[in-house]
Formats: sequence, structure tokens, C-alpha cells
Amino acid sequence: MNIAVIPGDGTGPEVTREAVKVLEAASKKFGFELKTTEYDLGGERYLKTGETLSDETLEELRGYDSILLGAIGHVDVPPGILERDVLLKIRFEFDQYINLRPVRLYPGVETPIKNKGPEDIHYTVVRENTGGLYTGTGGISMKGTANEVAVQSMVYNRHQVERCLRFSFEYAQKYGKKATGRGEHNTLALVGKTNVLTHVFGLWERAFHEIGEKDYPDVKREYYHVDAVCIYMVQNPEWFDVLVTSNMFGDIITDLAATTQGGMGLAAGGNVNPDGVSMFEPIGGTAPKFTGMNVINPLACISSAGMMLASLGEHEAARAIEASVMNVTANKIKGTGAGEMGYTTEEVGSFVAEGV
Ligand code: IPM
Ligand code: MN
Repeated sequence: MNIAVIPGDGTGPEVTREAVKVLEAASKKFGFELKTTEYDLGGERYLKTGETLSDETLEELRGYDSILLGAIGHVDVPPGILERDVLLKIRFEFDQYINLRPVRLYPGVETPIKNKGPEDIHYTVVRENTGGLYTGTGGISMKGTANEVAVQSMVYNRHQVERCLRFSFEYAQKYGKKATGRGEHNTLALVGKTNVLTHVFGLWERAFHEIGEKDYPDVKREYYHVDAVCIYMVQNPEWFDVLVTSNMFGDIITDLAATTQGGMGLAAGGNVNPDGVSMFEPIGGTAPKFTGMNVINPLACISSAGMMLASLGEHEAARAIEASVMNVTANKIKGTGAGEMGYTTEEVGSFVAEGV
């Protein structure tokens, strides 16, 4: 297993270090070979050299089995540059068209949602990851005048929508509530805005039902408007199994979802190309306030590394990592926020590594 590690900025290096520690422990225990190679992409490098991500580095990254990323962003770099030229560039160039974001409240973790426990907050958001508003389609004209016009379009074609939906139906078949013994159905819910964004979500909705009826009749289909789904994510998260949505909506609702599962310290994710090179990263950012203090929670990055192992076929190791993380949340750490764990970043990483 040949992995590129991009520690990135802020607390990124602190969390990837622990994730690699856990990967190494898993490789020993489960007998797969692991080689990691670091790439110093991010704000520091940009400020020193003016380089974000060169074509050569991009081509090199293409040669790995997978990529593990900490976080990218720097207070001295204007917003947008690193996002566009590093993070989004990798997502787009490697056609990582799925952003997989499991929402799990682990035992022992405090949620701001009253009266809900781990059995209620247990679902997955599939965020479309290379289309929609993120394509940057549009532009500005008459800039600086009173008539300045700005357009940024939500662009989707049938192919993009269809491959994302197929992935989601198949994910629901494999990991849905019925498949995992947690309910009577495997359910996929489309999250959209068919009452206003009729063109784009009309396309999504038609494709959803056509494909579902024809090829995945065993998966139950539901639909939520994106604003309403925010209510239910707080009031009735137990209704959800697998949710699929557009890029922008997925970005927004998964921050809300992350909060319900105990915050950014826990929220894992993966930018997935099912047939290519994927990149796994915690949802949270660089946490500049806590950089270098050894207090940041590494569990989101560790869980992302676990997802990476699953995507590479090491399911047993992936399950062992998740079980070890759950043991640490249930029996070790006191809180999940930075500085609230009762242990250092390194100690928490070691707990998980020892438990795999
Ligand atoms: C995320 C982040 C990124 C996104 C930013 C940093 C470009 O918020 O991964 O959710 O919008 O996709
Ligand atoms: Mn986001």
C-alpha cells in the first residue's frame, strides 16, 4: 500500500502523524505492507516558494494507491487560493466525484442534540464532489461599476448525476440499515431543492427515480428539500440512512451533521474516485489557534485513514480502527474538542494504535 501523505497546514501535521501511527499499527496487525511518502503542500510552502501544486507533483500523486490529507489553509494566504489550487484541484484532476461523509455519534461523545444517542445519529451523506457550483462556471462583468454582474452557475449533466446516484444506491445496498441489521430497509434519500432550483434538481430527481426503479428497486427512495433536512438532522436524525446531494448542499449540511456527531474532531471524510486515486481527509480545517500545542483531536483524521483502508479492500483493518476509536471515545477521552480530551494529541493517537 503506497500512500501519499499531505500533512498541510496548522494542526494538519499533528493529526496526520497520529493517523500514520495507527495505519502502521494496522499494517503490522493485519499483515499488509505500508509505505508513506510526505508532500509538503500547503500555505507554508506557497508563502516560501509561490508554488501551490505543480503539474509534476500532481502526476506523482497519481501514482499512489491513495492520499491522506490533514488540512490546508493559512492565515497569511488570501482565502480561495489554496482551496482552488490544491484541494479542489486534486478533487477535480483525480475525478474524485464522491465525497463520502459518514455521520456517527460514537459512544461517550457528547452531542448538542437533546435525547439522541449513537443509535439515532448513524447515517451517511454522499456529497457530489466535482460538479455544481464548485465548477466555477460564470464570471464577472462591469466590475467595479454600479452595474457589476456576478454569475456562478450550478452546473450538472446527466452523467455526473447518474454516476453519483449509482454510487449512492450501491452504498445503500452494502451499508444501509437493512444490510447492517439496523432496520427493515436500505434507504437512499435525495436532498435537493426541487421547489425552486427546478432545472438542476429536476434532473437529479428524474435520474434518481428512473435509476432507482430500474436498477435498485430494493432500495427505498425518499426525498427532502435541503432546508427541511436541516430541521430533521437536528430533530429526527434517526430517520436517515444514506443521503445523497449536490456539492454545495453537501458542503453545508455536513458541517451541521459534524456538529451533531460531536464536532470537527470526529468528522471523517473521503474524496473518492471508485476507479482511481482517492483522497481521505477530516472535514475540519487547520485550527490555527491550536497549532503546535499537541491538543487537537486526531480522531477525525484517524477515522479518515480507516475509511482509506476500507476503500483499498482492507476491511478488517478498517473495522478494527473504528472499534478502537469507539473504545477511546467511550472509555478514554473526556471531551472531543481541542484541549478537552484530557490527553494530548499523541496520547490519543497511541491509544487508538494500541487498540487496533
Ligand atoms: C470541505 C471544505 C472545502 C469545500 C473548502 C475548504 C474548499 O469546506 O471540504 O467541506 O468547500 O469543499
Ligand atoms: Mn466544508
